[in-house]
Amino acid sequence: MLEQEIAKRRTFGIISHPDAGKTTLTEKLLLFGGAIQKAGAVKSNKIKDHAKSDFMEIEKQRGISVATSVMGFNYKDVKINLLDTPGHQDFAEDTYRTLTAVDSVVMVIDCVKGVEIQTEKLMEVCRMRSTPVICFINKLDREGQDPYDLLDEVEEKLGIKVRPLSWPISMGKTFRGVYNLYNKSLVLFEASKRELTDGLDIEDINDPELDRLVGESNATQLREDVELIEGVYPKFSIEDYLEGKVAPVFFGSAVNNFGVRELLDCFVDIAPTPIPRETEERIIVPKEKKFTGFVFKIHANMDPKHRNRIAFVRVCSGKFERGKNYHHVREDKKIRFSNATAFMAQDRETVEEAWPGDIVGIFDTGNLKIGDTLTEGEKSIYKGIPSFSPEIFKEVINKDAMKTKQLEKGLKQLMEEGVAQLFTFELGSRKVVGVVGALQFEVIQHRLKNEYGASCSFSPMNLYKACWITSKDKKKLNEFIASKQRHIAKDKDGKMVFMAESKSWLGMVQDNFPDIEFHFTSEF
Ligand code: G4P
Repeated sequence: MLEQEIAKRRTFGIISHPDAGKTTLTEKLLLFGGAIQKAGAVKSNKIKDHAKSDFMEIEKQRGISVATSVMGFNYKDVKINLLDTPGHQDFAEDTYRTLTAVDSVVMVIDCVKGVEIQTEKLMEVCRMRSTPVICFINKLDREGQDPYDLLDEVEEKLGIKVRPLSWPISMGKTFRGVYNLYNKSLVLFEASKRELTDGLDIEDINDPELDRLVGESNATQLREDVELIEGVYPKFSIEDYLEGKVAPVFFGSAVNNFGVRELLDCFVDIAPTPIPRETEERIIVPKEKKFTGFVFKIHANMDPKHRNRIAFVRVCSGKFERGKNYHHVREDKKIRFSNATAFMAQDRETVEEAWPGDIVGIFDTGNLKIGDTLTEGEKSIYKGIPSFSPEIFKEVINKDAMKTKQLEKGLKQLMEEGVAQLFTFELGSRKVVGVVGALQFEVIQHRLKNEYGASCSFSPMNLYKACWITSKDKKKLNEFIASKQRHIAKDKDGKMVFMAESKSWLGMVQDNFPDIEFHFTSEF
């Protein structure tokens, strides 16, 4: 039973630079899965630029983002869990963490813009854990870059080998379709936002039927391209894909629902079933009978009067059962989750049981934080929810001395949710919030006021990076901390961090203290 359930599951995320077509592709995948009936049903989980400082918009987005955080659907007897990631770069931390809960990734690239900065950053996170990636080059109905150039760009900028599994026939106004190299069929393009088109089998690319369907010159070009691709690229190897060494590439147009079925068919064939995961103590495989899982996301309740939150738990092994007692490893105590939720497309429903690869939402009143492990008693802790050094730092200034307690509680809870990172300086206990994007400061200020009644302002700090510090030599580490006391802070878990003011200064300190290791992520 357990093994069958595992074999059925594929848990993945879609990543892209904003506007490349992630939301559109998500929607089309859900249409294929029958999880939604019509286009337009998935609300974009992104904060558009014009809404940058509009708090109502942020609040609305938070509502939407709970609903679309996890979308489960069935396709060809496979249970697919699609984990949404926020597109807005200011919330990149959230995306990094979500990527720790997936087993593979589909990366969307805009054929006009090519590889963009956000995709590069997200790919770095995938590379850190060798996550298998399938690449979908989107918007072929537009005049984009040459497909060979696009492939070179992906290899170069994203540091992964590619292997096209489909090939476009022209592009933009003259776009005719794609030839699917994976199952040797031809899919002709018709601009259509509703119809789901079927591929035509063309086993032999020399079939004169091809000339009739796409025109002689397109057919000749395609034959040359296919010959070149088969000659230049090694045969597609599923093993290399599963090890994160090569990314298969599909071409299409999400908004026209074109090339999406081919992507999905291949995805259910090759994408990994739930993978084994590493804890501090040992590797746990999904088919182990006992339940284990970890919290990768916490979402505060939208209603400020009820302070409960939803913790998103990725099931890693065994069977999760509602109402059973589970062990909260960090706090070493038992907790019962009587109120667990499963996510199916946009609905949430109470769940009785869940299997590896599934995500359950559990209501929590403040016991859980990001990275927590739940087990049936085993004291293992799942590795790998890294914090990255923030980019912008500001000191928190309390504006209402009467509400100091509320401010502290609010800050603590928001940090547990992963909204930002808090560093407390050793000297003078100054509190510094570090974020990836400036928008997060506004969110924090607004939520502290709204949900906790606390007022604060932020004062800019001239900091370049937060570096987690370690050393094989404890004495040297202590000496370093003593000599740089003014620049030493603790992160939320009490880990020692060196707050570097500039790149050049950091370089100098690194040279002067060769026994100290400086890390830019908390995972080392
Ligand atoms: P994102 O989630 O990655 O940020 O992107 P999203 O799907 O919202 O798509 C961004 C824009 O690109 C949308 O247009 C969408 O319609 C368009 N788009 C997606 N796929 C294709 C495609 O294959 N071809 C073309 N030509 N456009 C595509 P928008 O004008 O920003 O929004 P909307 O008003 O169309 O929803």
